[in-house]
Amino acid sequence: MTHLHSPSSAAIEGEANVYSKPRILLHWLSAAVILWATFSGFGVALLDANHPFRQWVESFNPQITSLFIPFFAWRLWLAIKAAPHLRHNTQERLASAAHMALYAAISGVLITGILMMTHPVTLIALITLPQLIHSNVALLGLHQLHHVLCAVLAGLVALHLAAVVMHQVRGKSVLGRMLPNG
Ligand code: HEM
Ligand code: HEM
Repeated sequence: MTHLHSPSSAAIEGEANVYSKPRILLHWLSAAVILWATFSGFGVALLDANHPFRQWVESFNPQITSLFIPFFAWRLWLAIKAAPHLRHNTQERLASAAHMALYAAISGVLITGILMMTHPVTLIALITLPQLIHSNVALLGLHQLHHVLCAVLAGLVALHLAAVVMHQVRGKSVLGRMLPNG
């Protein structure tokens, strides 16, 4: 489809979608945090509950993902400001809907994560996030919801990576748009 575009419309399309430096930086920071939390979170479930690496991951991950929240909020703000709903091209709209689904899943995972904590979280010995929910039934439900949303997020990330590869194979480099000199 894209190869039918005239050079001028391709140029306009490209120009409209160049990501700013902060958005590029925030994208790669998010990718690192989310891929780490997903692989390590699901990965340590295979280890014994008392395994030192599992215990380290379960104490480190809530801290790193909580610290990530302000960066995610900044990123979400920049994405909303870019007004993707104003796009007219169908393919652009589809990509934008997929990106919004990623943002929704990340928001859900962060909110359930914070709410499900059974003890306060001390962030790099500076700030302490209190335990917010004390009802055991609610905590169990939140744990299950966090688990399901993490799986949904992992599925969306897999689709996202498949889309990047698919575009690359078809000869339309979208990766370049997420690189500082792209
Ligand atoms: C980037 C966002 C996050 C991702 C991708 C993520 C991912 C995961 C994954 C994959 C698991 C394992 C799920 C399971 O086996 O049931 C998990 C468990 C958990 N997460 Fe998150 N998480 C995120 C944010 C948070 C936040 C913000 C907190 C709390 C401040 C948190 C607290 C927890 C806790 C307490 C567990 C359960 C560990 C256990 O079983 O004892 N997560 N997370
Ligand atoms: C190594 C892994 C990753 C690669 C290679 C990658 C690549 C890309 C590329 C090339 C784009 C630009 C697409 C375009 O505009 O045509 C993009 C955008 C985007 N990516 Fe990724 N990505 C990765 C991981 C992730 C992860 C883990 C997430 C979050 C769960 C994510 C969320 C997004 C979002 C929301 C956008 C839309 C642009 C924005 O709002 O900043 N990506 N990615």
